Amino acid sequence: MTSPRKIIIDTDPGVDDAMAIFYALSSPELEVVALTTIFGNATTETSTHNALALLALAGRSDIPVARGADVPLVATYKGPVAFVHGADGQGNAGIPASPTPAVAESAAELIVRTVMAAPGEITLVPVGPLTNIALAMRLEPRLGENLREIVLMGGNAFCPGNVNPSAEANIHNDPEAADIVFGAACPITMAGLDVTQKVQMTTSDLARIAAMGNPRAAHLARILPCYVEFHSRYDGLDGIFVHDSTAISYLLAPEAFTWSEHPVRVDCGQSFGRAKTIADEAVGNDNAAWAGRTAVRILTGADSRRLVELELDRLDRG
Ligand code: RIB
Ligand code: CA
Repeated sequence: MTSPRKIIIDTDPGVDDAMAIFYALSSPELEVVALTTIFGNATTETSTHNALALLALAGRSDIPVARGADVPLVATYKGPVAFVHGADGQGNAGIPASPTPAVAESAAELIVRTVMAAPGEITLVPVGPLTNIALAMRLEPRLGENLREIVLMGGNAFCPGNVNPSAEANIHNDPEAADIVFGAACPITMAGLDVTQKVQMTTSDLARIAAMGNPRAAHLARILPCYVEFHSRYDGLDGIFVHDSTAISYLLAPEAFTWSEHPVRVDCGQSFGRAKTIADEAVGNDNAAWAGRTAVRILTGADSRRLVELELDRLDRG
């Protein structure tokens, strides 16, 4: 077996973030080197508390957590989405505080230090707004060429957003940061709504989590009802879209996905198109705005049942 793939998860936990973190921790193909935290589903303060608490609950307080930015690069933070993830970011179910504090360095500083100490070895897995990644790229202009890959959950290239017809939540929270990140000089894979809304867990699938009997699954069973209720009310779904975990699934089973590859820009205007991720499919003759950008692997399809079973199998390992 090859050595585990080293990843840093940048996260705004978040119910689906919690699932993705536990999924990664239970997958021997991956080594979670660190968590970095960001605003989005909750404030960065709450995201940091939850990230530390999730690791403590999983018995993995050996993994460092570095606190990230409190606000977007230029926009204003629109605030937590309590109606989706609960006021505490954990489905209003609460989570005991970890006795372990966050490390002293910032998220951007940890990312830069870790990546530059291991050129070509680190994969960034952002599953929240991309502010910390953009700040790290500014802090170290050589970051991109020293990264193995960025596999991010965010965006919507060929489908509507989930905040409004243009915008997906992670990009919506910091479009300027996202536009910087999509220009990074490394391989980028985008697990956007194009694919994540095609990977769904039913309430029957989620009931299996409740029956697993390990501490991680028991926590997920406590925080999921709030998230299920949101999907029922807003999407008419009998279950949930699997957003953040789909980025983890791509790392584990890329062959279960389909994609197309195009340079991506993000609309940073102030009109109704703001935060739309726009793929250059080589249409038209004035594509200068996308010139020089590496093509992003935009995931467009997946074997949903296979990925759901893979994640449930890993979550059952505790
Ligand atoms: O649009 C879905 C994304 O926004 C997920 O990362 C979810 O956790 C929220 O952050
Ligand atoms: Ca998230």
